[in-house]
Amino acid sequence: MTLGVSRVLSADAAAIREAAAILRRGGLVAFPTETVYGLGADAENEEALTALFAAKGRPADHPVIMHLADVGLVENFVTDVPPAARKLAAAFWPGPMTLVLRRNKRVSDRVTGGLETVGLRVPVHSIAHALLVEFGGPIAAPSANRFGRVSCTCAEHVASELDERVDLILDGGPCDVGLESTIIDVSSGQPAILRPGAITQEQIAAVIREALQPPSAESPRAPGTLASHYAPQAHVELVEEPLLASRAKEYASSGKKVAVLGRGTARVAACDNIICLDGPPDDEGLAHELYALLRRADELGCDVVLVAPPEQQGIGTAIIDRLRRAAGPRG
Ligand code: TXA
Ligand code: MG
Repeated sequence: MTLGVSRVLSADAAAIREAAAILRRGGLVAFPTETVYGLGADAENEEALTALFAAKGRPADHPVIMHLADVGLVENFVTDVPPAARKLAAAFWPGPMTLVLRRNKRVSDRVTGGLETVGLRVPVHSIAHALLVEFGGPIAAPSANRFGRVSCTCAEHVASELDERVDLILDGGPCDVGLESTIIDVSSGQPAILRPGAITQEQIAAVIREALQPPSAESPRAPGTLASHYAPQAHVELVEEPLLASRAKEYASSGKKVAVLGRGTARVAACDNIICLDGPPDDEGLAHELYALLRRADELGCDVVLVAPPEQQGIGTAIIDRLRRAAGPRG
């Protein structure tokens, strides 16, 4: 299948073999994970890493996550694995979690953006896992979108974001979670959540049984977790559910085209300039659909997306984090 100018292959065994060969040659392959699609490069090939940053338009000092096939490989890339990291790895790997650990010399400065730490992830998705096994080394993979934009949760979105910048897209259908992995810094002192995700603060606290620095959109500690990130073209605004209709009318009467991202319960009358995009009522469902809905608002030419935030609990925390960043000031 060809979408635009991208090569997209259904991710069967032959396609995975070809993808691994492309990575060995220093090429770029987009592949599905349980969170979002990743844009992969050989993490031990400097030229491939340069091409990766260029394809994304990503500043060189923003570290990328290194993906591994197996938890047992972690020790090859770090100086030590503290007790909290061991507990988290045992509980949540393989899965939608990234651990920031102290790196050893084997890890390229290009991967870490010059930091003394590295973000490692062992994905559970069968295609990501098969690709890592077939390739036989670590794969550096940021989310498969251009820098600052909304991550991709299906192959079609990757193709529209990256077109000829990627050598092959492995199509594995829509991603389960729909939001990027939970990032936990366990490199020193008190473990801290740098980016909330499907592995929730509540789950993490139950496993490590020690104080946890809470996630904070206001004080980003990870380079790359900028105030404005994960943004569609439309302006995003968080509005409490009961106020959605009046806010939408305000925008519409000033000539703006508005998308209202409701939760099944929202009653906003659609009219010429107001489009209702109904999201699933449960938070897992909304996480799964969120980026596709934001992209849909762009496709429909909306100027503004109004969205009612979920409760600050479970994966709702991660949804609010992404919405706040999408709503953040644009550079
Ligand atoms: O779910 C995910 O994590 C996806 C899939 C493809 O694995 N990847 C992803 O990568 O979201 P990316 O590059 O879009 O976001 C990685 C985040 C960035 O905010 C980066 O700053 C942070 O991870 N990060 C990576 N290494 C780090 C480190 N050593 N210290 C602190 N933050 C780090
Ligand atoms: Mg990203």
